[in-house]
Amino acid sequence: MTMPQSDLAASRSIDRAVFEDLYAGPAPWDVGKPQPQFVAIANRVIGPVLDAGCGTGEHALFFAARGHRVVGIDFVDEAIRRARAKAAERGLSVEFLVEDALALAAWGARFTTVIDCGLFHVFSDADRRHYVRGLARVVEPGGLLFLMCFSDEEPGNEGPRRVSRQELFDAFADGWEVESVEPARCEIHPEFTEVTFSEGGPKMWFAVVRRKA
Ligand SMILES: C[S@@+](CC[C@H](N)C(=O)[O-])C[C@H]1O[C@@H](n2cnc3c(N)ncnc32)[C@H](O)[C@@H]1O
Repeated sequence: MTMPQSDLAASRSIDRAVFEDLYAGPAPWDVGKPQPQFVAIANRVIGPVLDAGCGTGEHALFFAARGHRVVGIDFVDEAIRRARAKAAERGLSVEFLVEDALALAAWGARFTTVIDCGLFHVFSDADRRHYVRGLARVVEPGGLLFLMCFSDEEPGNEGPRRVSRQELFDAFADGWEVESVEPARCEIHPEFTEVTFSEGGPKMWFAVVRRKA
């Protein structure tokens, strides 16, 4: 299994092959439940909801169980296969699609809420701009983006790219209002031991961003 090194990350997004490889083992983020930060904001979520980079679907399924119409997209077939299987097992309806989040701008779909748990930080500078332009096309005016990404306060350079608070404000400077950026921790799969992150889980930012009306 190959973990990405974040030093090349400004110029190169993490490849699909890296994620395919990680899904062959205990993927570090795949903890079988939503991350607590997304549970905490559940009352603020209004459907329809897009879970961008949904992985095996825990956040999408959580919001579907609360009665929302949810679409989950991921570019790894195996992740979407597992997400669909979980939806069937739990009797929940979520539209899980194999899609590239960098192609959002080409979609006709519109969402009131977008969940991004661990996607933004996989992108290079150029793809980050492209992704945010795509988000601007799919998020309704006044809609909310809830985003959790690796923080520059997490030591080391293994794993995903570190993102600073300022970079979040810069990425959403035009047409968005950054409501808050708070420190957070991410729960990691206990069997994932290839990289040692901070005790208590890697340091993250949890951002709430509103699309301007
Ligand atoms: C860190 S994982 C998080 C998965 C999920 N959100 C979770 O919290 O369990 C990032 C996910 O983004 C997906 N991904 C990365 N780049 C993508 C892209 N360009 N389009 C769609 N999915 C992508 C990966 O396959 C992976 O499932």
